[in-house]
Amino acid sequence: MKKSLNIVLGVSGGIAAYKVAYILRLLTEAGHNVQVVPTQASLNFVGSATWEALSGNPVNAQVWDDVAEVPHVRIGQAADLVIVAPATADLLSRAASGAANDLLTNVLLTATCPIVFAPAMHTEMWLNPATKENVATLRSRGCLVIDPGDGRLTGDDSGPGRLPDPEEIVSVALGVLSEQDLLGQDIVITAGGTREFLDPVRFLGNSSSGKQGVALAISARNRGAKVTLICASTSVSLPVGVEIVNVITGDDMLTAVLNCATNADVIVMAAAVADYKPKVRQATKMKKSVDGSVPSIELERTVDILANLVIHRDASHPDQLIVGFAAETGDDKGSVLEHGIEKLQRKGCDLLVINEVGPNLAFGTDDNEVTILTRDPASQLTIPKTSKTTIAHAIWDTVISLQSHSK
Ligand code: CTP
Repeated sequence: MKKSLNIVLGVSGGIAAYKVAYILRLLTEAGHNVQVVPTQASLNFVGSATWEALSGNPVNAQVWDDVAEVPHVRIGQAADLVIVAPATADLLSRAASGAANDLLTNVLLTATCPIVFAPAMHTEMWLNPATKENVATLRSRGCLVIDPGDGRLTGDDSGPGRLPDPEEIVSVALGVLSEQDLLGQDIVITAGGTREFLDPVRFLGNSSSGKQGVALAISARNRGAKVTLICASTSVSLPVGVEIVNVITGDDMLTAVLNCATNADVIVMAAAVADYKPKVRQATKMKKSVDGSVPSIELERTVDILANLVIHRDASHPDQLIVGFAAETGDDKGSVLEHGIEKLQRKGCDLLVINEVGPNLAFGTDDNEVTILTRDPASQLTIPKTSKTTIAHAIWDTVISLQSHSK
């Protein structure tokens, strides 16, 4: 991807236009040249002065301005990427029908680069069959239409229709320019820590943040995969453009994973799944005993989801790749790596990502140091301390290399 891109930022007439100033800021701070093309209606919400000051470029909404420079053709042709945010129901309708009645729709017709729409509107408008058809048409032509967020809208109402977070829109839009080497793959990723309840309020859990699983989901999405993220408890915001399945316990996760496993090309178990759960989950809150005695809690083993996936790998999908993670500490029985090698054999997965855990290591941090093992001992790859995003990309590179060898 070029370092500095020519990006057209189309703004249509919705109140969420005010959030787009921040998108513009993120793009220019990343070094990109941004040409804002507002619709006339959007100027009721945010005026040209804001866009000109923040982009450093002159701003027009009409095809009749600066005609000698033929802007209605030149801007679209010169763009590396077009982002429309917010994309209103009206703008989506005009784009889908091929209208060319203002500068932004002319740009959409002349651009040959990727086009990303970030819709924002009231729920009824988003769910209206007319809008659904327009979105389907745009997607069928190769545009990326991001699903809007679900939450508080302009008035008292809330529901699907909210503009996704600016950071997410930028990440999804720039991701479109990544090499699409996972295109056509169905990838299931688990993330976060499961919770095993003792009673309605107390649980046994762990400190997994879900950061590595989320980084895997974002990078796979950016590389073109269809991603399902099965999420236990996490402390990070979840990405758009991937299907999210929320779960709480290990049993919930097992059900969700098995539901998605049949069609998956790759399954990555990045979640920290509890190994034990209380044998009995009390229906009411456990009270302190009057005599000061301390309860004993009897535990039982949970199902090992990873091992289960390997055993029941669908015969109709023998090329499915199953990736495990191993959180390890070295001890008198072996080093972190030795425990990892033993775990790869025991679990039978195709790829195991080993990381050492301990205070300030792995859990909750932004960086990590891992070793990626496959069943071929010669392919062992150690990645020194780096971001979880870089690790995620290295894991996908290994997955792609294993897939190409098995063909
Ligand atoms: N895992 C799983 N189901 C479980 C426990 C773990 O699918 N009930 C998966 C994790 O998602 C991870 C891998 O197994 O991909 C290894 O998890 P880890 O906790 O390191 O290993 P354990 O199997 O729990 O073995 P041990 O605790 O003995 O090291």
